[in-house]
Amino acid sequence: MRLMIVIGSVRPGRAGLPVGEWVRSRVEADGRFELDWADLAEIALPFLDEPHHPSKRQYTKPHTIAWSERVDAADAIIFVTPEYNHSYAPALKNAFDFLNQEWWRKPISFVSYGGVSGGSRGVAAFDPVYTTLGAIKTTANVEINFVSTLIKDGVFHPGDKETAILGKVLDELAELAPALKALRP
Ligand SMILES: Cc1cc2nc3c(=O)[nH]c(=O)nc-3n(C[C@H](O)[C@H](O)[C@H](O)COP(=O)(O)O)c2cc1C
Repeated sequence: MRLMIVIGSVRPGRAGLPVGEWVRSRVEADGRFELDWADLAEIALPFLDEPHHPSKRQYTKPHTIAWSERVDAADAIIFVTPEYNHSYAPALKNAFDFLNQEWWRKPISFVSYGGVSGGSRGVAAFDPVYTTLGAIKTTANVEINFVSTLIKDGVFHPGDKETAILGKVLDELAELAPALKALRP
């Protein structure tokens, strides 16, 4: 099973990187998944610049074709994301918008972070986005409250709660990945 970890914030000094590195180390220790590390800061998609609706899959730009192939190859995806102004992270929304069929029946989950809300409003803002694209979200999702207090010298130190829930996320994704693969064209 190929699991893609998408880092959804692209700012210098972002909390998304240490949080994502924690997710990656946990996935590597788990051993059930082959990993694809997709940092949107490195991928550097521009704002959606395709002339055709993504559902037609008539891509004209190399960055779109590369992103399409990468998402296509994923059997499951974890999005690591903050909430910005009680809503979604814009680079991640843009990355969703670039594609269409590639998300269909893809098992996904979110690791969100923020202040008291743990980024939950950012994930809630994505509900209509992934739903209309046909992706299927796990019931468990990791919400990290007051993330800045858990990052020391660029390393994220999870509590027992975060570690336990990430384990549930991986179990759900491992269960959904083969089942949903059968439903994709
Ligand atoms: C533009 C902006 C908007 C933010 N809005 C929220 C918010 O609505 N809720 C919240 O809990 N934190 C908010 N924060 C604080 C973020 O949780 C915190 O800065 C976090 O580190 C952002 O993730 P990042 O570092 O990966 O970009 C905001 C931060 C920024 C830069």
